[in-house]
Amino acid sequence: MSPVTSSQRKPRELNAVSHSKFRDDVLRGLAKSPKELPSQYLYDDRGSQLFDQICEQPEYYLTRTEFKIMRTHIADIASAIGPNVAMIEPGCGSGQKTRLLLHHLRQPYAYAPIEISRTHLLKFVQRLHSASPNLVVHPVCADFNELSELPEPLRAAPKRVVYFPGSTIGNMTPPEARALLARMASWCEPRDQILVGVDAPKNHDVLLAAYDDAAGVSAEFALNYLVRLNHELDATFDLGRFRYEAVYNETQSRIEMYVTSQVAQTVDVAGRPFCLSENERLRTEWSYKYDREQFRKLTASAGLREACCWQDPRGWFRLHLLAVSGGPERVP
Ligand code: AVI
Repeated sequence: MSPVTSSQRKPRELNAVSHSKFRDDVLRGLAKSPKELPSQYLYDDRGSQLFDQICEQPEYYLTRTEFKIMRTHIADIASAIGPNVAMIEPGCGSGQKTRLLLHHLRQPYAYAPIEISRTHLLKFVQRLHSASPNLVVHPVCADFNELSELPEPLRAAPKRVVYFPGSTIGNMTPPEARALLARMASWCEPRDQILVGVDAPKNHDVLLAAYDDAAGVSAEFALNYLVRLNHELDATFDLGRFRYEAVYNETQSRIEMYVTSQVAQTVDVAGRPFCLSENERLRTEWSYKYDREQFRKLTASAGLREACCWQDPRGWFRLHLLAVSGGPERVP
C-alpha cells in the first residue's frame, strides 16, 4: 500500500478464504481434547463492541492502568525511544494510547499499522489522516504473524519502534509469544526497539473479577462466540445450555476462559456433530500474566533485552521497552 500523509482490534468481513480457514480452525479446535475455540475469532462486530465495553468495566483494570502509566511517563517513554522513528503497530492502532505516543514522539518519521483486512485498514487510515494530516502513514496490509520483513520505506527509516500494547502478548502461549517477539525482532536493526504492555500476576480475586465482571459483559463476550458460530457456521448452540467460566491457573500464571456445557448434549457445527458431556468446557481464551523476571526470560529467549520498564505504583501492569540484543540468549 502506498503511503499517505495525515492512528482497536476491530471486526472484519471474512472473505471466502478466511471463511474456510475460520471453519477449519474451529472444527480443528472442537476435535481436540480438551476442546477449544480459537480466540482470534472472538472479535466479530458484536465481539469487538463487547470487548470495548469490557475495557470500561470497573473491574477490568488493564486498560485504565496501562493508559495511566503512559500518561504519567510519556515524556520519559518518548525520550527513551528518541526522535525520527518509524512507529510500527501490529493491528490497527490502540486508540488513545497510540495517539498519545504519536503526539509525544519527536518528529516521528512515519506510523505503520499492520492489518490483515484491507477494508478495515483503509478506513482506519482515512480517520487517521483527518485527525493528523501531517503524519506520514505507511499502511501495511498483511498478517503480522506471517510478515517476514517490513516494506522498503520502513526499512529505510533511521530507526523503528514496534508498539504492542494492551497485554495482547498475554493471549498467546509463551512459545507463541516468544515466536512473535522474535518475528518483531527480525523486522528490526540493532538500535531499534519494541514497546510492549504486559499484565502482572496479582491477587486472584482482582484477576477473577476483571475476567468475570458483575455486569456480565465478559460472559456475554465469550458466549457471543457461540452466537457467531450459529450465524456463520450453521451451528446449533442453544445459549441457555451454556455458561461462562473464568478460572485462574496459578501454576501456569494465566486466566482461563471457557464456555461450559450445562448438560450432556450434541451440537452441530458446519454439518459435523460434537458430543458434549455435562460440565464439559470449551476454552475460548488464555490470558497469561508475567512477573518481570518471567518476562525477562521470555524476551531474552527471543533475542531481546529490557532497556527500560515503567509500571504503576501497585505493580499491576508494566510497559517494557525492549532492545534488540543481537541473537537469542539461551534460557535454561
Ligand atoms: C485483548 N486481551 C488483552 C484481553 C485480556 O485481558 O486478555 C482479552 C479479554 N478477554 C476477556 N477479557 C479480556
